[in-house]
Amino acid sequence: MSRNKIIAANWKMNLNIIQAQKLTSQLKKNSSKIKTKAEVVLFTNSIYLSKASAEFKKSTKICVGAQNCYFEKSGAFTGEISVDMIKSSGAKWILCGHSERRMLFGETDEMIAKKVSAVLESGLKMMLCVGEDLACRKKNQQNKKVAEQLSIALGGIDKKYINSIAIAYEPVWAIGTGVTATAAQVQEMHSFIRKNIQEIVGKKAKDISIVYGGSCNPSNAKEIFFCKDVDGGLIGGASLDADSFSKIIASIS
Ligand code: PGA
Repeated sequence: MSRNKIIAANWKMNLNIIQAQKLTSQLKKNSSKIKTKAEVVLFTNSIYLSKASAEFKKSTKICVGAQNCYFEKSGAFTGEISVDMIKSSGAKWILCGHSERRMLFGETDEMIAKKVSAVLESGLKMMLCVGEDLACRKKNQQNKKVAEQLSIALGGIDKKYINSIAIAYEPVWAIGTGVTATAAQVQEMHSFIRKNIQEIVGKKAKDISIVYGGSCNPSNAKEIFFCKDVDGGLIGGASLDADSFSKIIASIS
C-alpha cells in the first residue's frame, strides 16, 4: 500500500469567525480548480469545527480536524473539549502533541500518550507532532529526543489503529521562525522516524504518513515534499492565506 499524502493547515489561535468563514469559502472555491494527490486537513479552532465540517461535508479533498482534545471522556474538566465532542462536530482528525501545547501548556509525553489513545479508540484519525528544540539540535540529540517522544506516545497503542495515524515532524526552531530545515535535514529525520516507528509498531509502519512542519511556504514546499520519506506538510502561517495554502496543496500533484 502506498502512503497517503497529506497537507494540513494549523490555524493555531488565529482568525475570528468572519475571517474563518472567508478563508474556508475561498479554499472551497480554489479546491475545485486545484489538482492534488493530497488529502487536505484543516485544523481549525474548536469553535469553528461544526461549521467548517458542514462546509466540507461533501468534499472528497478537504476535511476538518481539531488542534487539541482532552483524554477524559466527560466530567468536571472546565474549559476542556472531549474527543466525542469533536467527533460529533463532524471533524475527522485530531492533532496531538504540538510543540506549543508541550511548551506553553505543560503537556508531557505521558499526557500526549493518553490523548493519542483516546483519539484512536474513538475512530478518528490522529496526527502526532514530534520535534526537537534548538538546544537539542545544537547538541546533536535530535534523534534521541524524537525517539523518546515517539516511543511514549505510540508505545501503548493497539496495532489495529495504524491506518489512523500520521506523524508530523516539526523542529521547534523552524516553527514560525522563517527558518526552514533543509531538505537533507528533513529527509534524514523522516527516514529515522520511519525506522523508529517500525521498531514500535512493526512492519505496518511503512503505511504511516510522515509530514514536515516548520516555516513551509509556496516557495520551499516542493523541494521538501519531494524527499523520499516526506508525505506532505503541516502548515501554520502560510495556511492562513487561501492562495498561499492552495499553492502548497497544488505542489503535491
Ligand atoms: P509554521 O507553523 O508553518 O508557521 O512554521 C507550523 C506549525 O506549527 O504547525
